Amino acid sequence: MTDPNAWNERYAEGSDRWTLERVPAVLEQLIAIQRERHRVLVPGAGVGVDAFAWARAGHDVVALDFAPLAVTAMRTRASELGVKIEALEADVTAPPEQLRGIIDLVWEQTCLCALPPDQRRAYLEAMATILRPSGSMVALLWNHGDEGGPPFDMPPVLVEELVVGVFAIRKRERVADGLSTRANQYLWWLDPIRR
Ligand SMILES: C[S@@+](CC[C@H](N)C(=O)[O-])C[C@H]1O[C@@H](n2cnc3c(N)ncnc32)[C@H](O)[C@@H]1O
Repeated sequence: MTDPNAWNERYAEGSDRWTLERVPAVLEQLIAIQRERHRVLVPGAGVGVDAFAWARAGHDVVALDFAPLAVTAMRTRASELGVKIEALEADVTAPPEQLRGIIDLVWEQTCLCALPPDQRRAYLEAMATILRPSGSMVALLWNHGDEGGPPFDMPPVLVEELVVGVFAIRKRERVADGLSTRANQYLWWLDPIRR
């Protein structure tokens, strides 16, 4: 779905079945091993569940989504929860210029797989651009093996192809304790390639 209105509609009718209201164990573990305070970007953040987990752990968080209702929900929930995040209405393939080169860590799940195939490279290139040279992107990607989407299947061979020239793959781990409804997920650690 390329149209923000189509995603917005899903939030309006409450059919955003991807919203889990809790973070995956791998994200809890990732947050727990951070030793420094980071500026974290969560692209395609939805109603902000992952963004709030980073913010609660003391990180500075920017969350992007192009569905206005998602952004409103993030802002409302953040204020109800008493956590501070910057929720911006923006397209992840063309993030605001002021983010260029300032992000330490991009955390994503269910964003790349939500994009139409012809936008994937632009998205990955945009994420590499907003990262500091020493930063990295950590992506939880689902290899569900089904045709069509969203969510589109993210088999390792496809991800390896998509990142060529943009990110170097530092590590890929099969997630052992993923949700039963999202079996066969991989955690990817990606470092931007300096140009
Ligand atoms: C499948 S939902 C996942 C939301 C959230 N990551 C979660 O796990 O709950 C995908 C989200 O990406 C947003 N999205 C899709 N394409 C986008 C784009 N090009 N730019 C910004 N947001 C986008 C949608 O509005 C939606 O909130």
